[in-house]
Amino acid sequence: MSVIFSGIQPSGTLTIGNYLGAMKHFTDLQDDNECYFCVVNQHAITVPQEKQALKQNSRSLAALYLASGINPEKSTLFIQSEVPAHAQLAWMLQCVSYIGELERMTQFKDKSTGKDAVSAGLLTYPPLMAADILLYGTEIVPVGDDQKQHIELTRNLAERFNRKYNDIFVMPDARIPKVGARIMSLQDPSKKMSKSDSNQNAYISMLDEPSTIVKKVKRAVTDSDGVVRYDKEEKPAISNLLTIYSLCSGKSVEEIESLYEGRGYGDFKAELGEVIAETLKPIQERYNELITSSELDDILDLGAEKANRKASKMLTKAERAMGLERRRR
Ligand code: AQP
Repeated sequence: MSVIFSGIQPSGTLTIGNYLGAMKHFTDLQDDNECYFCVVNQHAITVPQEKQALKQNSRSLAALYLASGINPEKSTLFIQSEVPAHAQLAWMLQCVSYIGELERMTQFKDKSTGKDAVSAGLLTYPPLMAADILLYGTEIVPVGDDQKQHIELTRNLAERFNRKYNDIFVMPDARIPKVGARIMSLQDPSKKMSKSDSNQNAYISMLDEPSTIVKKVKRAVTDSDGVVRYDKEEKPAISNLLTIYSLCSGKSVEEIESLYEGRGYGDFKAELGEVIAETLKPIQERYNELITSSELDDILDLGAEKANRKASKMLTKAERAMGLERRRR
């Protein structure tokens, strides 16, 4: 039995990249582990968010966690801002972080390059993520490939804190899926698929209508050689589509390649659109029931209560270790 934590930002509607790289793997973990799944809305505000959209996306993301199989009787599902210990520990961890190491984070560079104004929160995103993880004594963090660097930083901060103050934090490990850890944009296979991409054709949202999914796959960029074959270097766009097909259908890449031997990209793309729509159908049905129900809020209220109980214990330990408590013990 391990402690598992994973968070997703409500910075838009989840894409199939978020689903295949992260969310899909959560349900298998909850039977034998102590799991915490979080809607990290304080991470989302490191870049501008529209107030109503953020509120709606936060509920929507919680509903998607449940619709894709998170069982609130087995796992704790909650919203980050409803557990103040996250921001409190994040501040303490910022005070043991170095500006240079935060500036070296790829995500910070990607999201700040070319921007006129960048929030301080974008720079201090990783200590907040470290706080999310360390508060629960997390041993395993299931994430996509892009978060590997942040988990390494979390380990460095935990180690630095433990050495300097007191040995209280558990060292977490990232768990990255072997296939699907980086689903690429449908419009530019050199870029990761992201829910905040300004081009809507670059991603498939988990709530896209079947007809929209089929259209977006048809518009996906390919290459000119017309052969459905996996070759990440020479044929990155088709390889990305093959990965998505394989993960959604459960068929191996080789099986899919032979299925489309001698047929063009037209058939392949049309059928891939159907396969994705079928994968998302049961999730969307359950989502539609949950999003209008009071059940969702009840689950989140209970989740916040459970998370607060657990997180406040570690926060107290960290405050004691740093000398932030007043009373003599
Ligand atoms: N394209 C992807 N392929 C595989 N896994 C992915 N993840 C994100 N994109 C892909 C994984 O999804 C989890 C939640 O990610 P997040 O929303 O917290 O942040 P992110 O990684 O920055 O995701 P986005 O979609 O790119 O969000 P925006 O556009 O707001 O920055 C993580 O485990 C992540 O690895």
